[in-house]
Amino acid sequence: MTAQTASASGVALRIQNVGMRFGGLWALSDVTFDVERGSVLGLIGPNGSGKTTLMNVISGVYRPTTGAVRFASRRIADVPTHEVCQLGIARTFQIVKPFASLTVRENVAVGAMYGRYGAKRSTRASFERAQELLEIVGLARVADRAASDLTIPDRKRLEVAKALALDPDVLLLDEVMAGLNATEVDEALELLRDVNRRGVTLIVVEHLMKAIVSISTTIVVLAEGKKIAQGAPADVLASPQVIEAYLGSRWVKRQEQLKIIEAERADAARVQPPDAHA
Ligand SMILES: Nc1ncnc2c1ncn2[C@@H]1O[C@H](COP(=O)(O)OP(=O)(O)OP(=O)(O)O)[C@@H](O)[C@H]1O
Ligand SMILES: [Mg+2]
Repeated sequence: MTAQTASASGVALRIQNVGMRFGGLWALSDVTFDVERGSVLGLIGPNGSGKTTLMNVISGVYRPTTGAVRFASRRIADVPTHEVCQLGIARTFQIVKPFASLTVRENVAVGAMYGRYGAKRSTRASFERAQELLEIVGLARVADRAASDLTIPDRKRLEVAKALALDPDVLLLDEVMAGLNATEVDEALELLRDVNRRGVTLIVVEHLMKAIVSISTTIVVLAEGKKIAQGAPADVLASPQVIEAYLGSRWVKRQEQLKIIEAERADAARVQPPDAHA
């Protein structure tokens, strides 16, 4: 299939036989999958399985040793990072990197000024856009603080706001929920759903299974740089290979326990309705 027909059929991003070698280590080997336009693709796998490396390949930080990445009708494996950003792909960094001495608002305004539509925006419009995004991600309250003052959860929010300021069609999110508490994770999921509803295709790397399952349309699993599974969340998580390579037997036992508890609850409700002794 040509790239033209790929984009016509709703494929936003096409990863084709991508391999990435660092010295003697293949961090990625022969990884192939498509990302549907408008979807949320969850990318999971054990530590060191190549998730961040793949994000770096897609965003132009690394040039892959083998294979190609296609975005819309373009081959982007040789395109430098800033041009990839201008084409409509933005990413967050697993190790957050704000401009420490700038304020939170200025950090986001820089993205709005120099990103994809930056040339069409005045400085004033860029700051207004930054303010809008800070409200969306919940950082308006610290807009005038230096980025270096932020807590880790707020730095993660800032990463998302900075990436959104680039007006991407595809957003790569590398562990933006790590270190957040349960309420903050729910808020982050709601934010990402909202971003996705606005038409942005998401690739989400996260170790938190509950979050990945609840947000992903499709899940791709990497292990030792190879794709070992791809499909709907429920199917992927039931795959023996994925359980062995990533989830582990404790996770399976926990899921079985949860099913038994559910079944017992359902039985109890049937046998003894709440008003049985009334
Ligand atoms: N620039 C580099 N030079 C050498 N080796 C690298 C480089 N970047 C990554 N690696 C190696 O490639 C492998 C994949 O690393 P990567 O960071 O992509 O994993 P990951 O799936 O993101 O892991 P984690 O879940 O811990 O973030 C690891 O063995 C890592 O040490
Ligand atoms: Mg990583």
